[in-house]
Amino acid sequence: MSTPFSIPLTNVEMTEDDVQAVLACLSEGWLTMGPRTQAFEAAFAEWLGAERAVAVGSGTAALHLALLAAGVGPGDEVIVPAFTFVATAAAARYCGAEAILADVRDPLEPTLDILDVASRITPRTKAVVAVHFGGYAADMISLRGLCGDRGLALIEDCAQAVGARCADDTPVGLAGDAGCFSFFSKKQLCVGEGGMVVTPHEDWSAKVKSLRSHAMTSVTWDRHRGHAESYDILDIGFNYRMDEPRAALGLSRLPRLDDDLARRRVAVRRYRELLADVPAVELPWTDEDVERASHFAFFALLPDRGTRDAVRDALQADGIQTTWYPSLTQFSEYESHGRRPVSEEVAARHVALPLSSTTTVEQVEFVVERLLAAL
Ligand SMILES: Cc1ncc(COP(=O)(O)O)c(C=O)c1O
Repeated sequence: MSTPFSIPLTNVEMTEDDVQAVLACLSEGWLTMGPRTQAFEAAFAEWLGAERAVAVGSGTAALHLALLAAGVGPGDEVIVPAFTFVATAAAARYCGAEAILADVRDPLEPTLDILDVASRITPRTKAVVAVHFGGYAADMISLRGLCGDRGLALIEDCAQAVGARCADDTPVGLAGDAGCFSFFSKKQLCVGEGGMVVTPHEDWSAKVKSLRSHAMTSVTWDRHRGHAESYDILDIGFNYRMDEPRAALGLSRLPRLDDDLARRRVAVRRYRELLADVPAVELPWTDEDVERASHFAFFALLPDRGTRDAVRDALQADGIQTTWYPSLTQFSEYESHGRRPVSEEVAARHVALPLSSTTTVEQVEFVVERLLAAL
C-alpha cells in the first residue's frame, strides 16, 4: 500500500498463497464462523501448545469474554497496567467492573509492577490483567504467585505478544487463567480484525464459545448443515464471531509466523547493536529478554519528551515513520485515576521505530543513522 513514508512503522506482507486462501473461501459461499474458523482454532491451539482455543472478532472481544468467563461483573475491580492500549481497561468496564490502573516497573521494563499491583488489591478485586507490552512478557511468575495467594483470576493480554515466552519459557497465553490474542492489522499474526482466547479451564472456554454468538445453543453453521433447526438463548451474549475469510487468512499465515518473528528479532538485534553505546539512548529490556520476545514494537528511550518529539519530527522529515504509546492516565476518560509516574515517564520518553517482518538490516541502519543525526 502506498504511504508517504519511505520506511513505514509497520508493513503487512501478503503472499499469493494468502490471497488464494481468501479467494478459495469466498468462492465457496460460506462466509461466517464455520469450518475454516474451527480449523484456525485447532491450528492455533496446536502451534501454541494450548488444549483449546476459541476464535473471536477482535482482541478486545477476547479480553471482554475472558473477563466474563472469570466471573467479573458489576461492583468488581480489575487491575490493569496504566501503560497499555485502552482496550485492556475498556474490557473490564464492559463487564460493569472498575478498571484500576497500576503502574509499570521501570521505563526500562514497562510491564506491571507487582508491588504496585499488590498495593491496589481490595476485597472487590476479582482479576488482574497482565499486558505483555510490545511483545515482551510481564513477570508472570510473580503475578501468578500473587494472584494465587489472593484468589484472583490472572488474564494475559497477549494482543502484542503472540509467540513470546515468559522468563520460565512458558509461551505467553499459557501462563495464566486465560490468554487473549489479537490479529489486528498491525499485529505479528494479522488478518485485519480478529482475536483468540485460550484457557486451561474447560468451563471458561465453553462460556467464551457461547457468549461470542449470543449464547445460542446452536450456531448458524450447524443449522446451515441441517444439524439443528432451532435454538435456545441461555445468557446475554454478543456477536463476537470471527468470519471465514479472516480464518482462511489466519490459517494461511500461521505457518509463517515463527519465521516472521525471527526476522523481527534480527532487526531488533541490529537496532540494539547500533544504539547500545549512544549516550542519549537507553534500551528497554535485556538481550535475554529480546530472545524470548516476539517484537511487536522496538522502543528507544530518549532523555525527555522534548528530545523525543524533536527526534520524531526529524525522522518524519527523513521519510521515517515512528510512533509512541501514551499512558491511560493522559486520556480525558482516565485522568481522574491520578498520576502513574513510571507509565507517564515511559510514554514521554520513548520512540517506537519501524519494525515488521519485512524491515531489513539496511533499513535499520538508515533509521539509526538518521536518529543519531537528529540527536
Ligand atoms: C495491549 C492491547 N490490548 C488489546 C488490544 C485490542 O486488540 P483488538 O484491536 O484486536 O481489539 C490491543 C490492540 O491494539 C492492544 O495493543
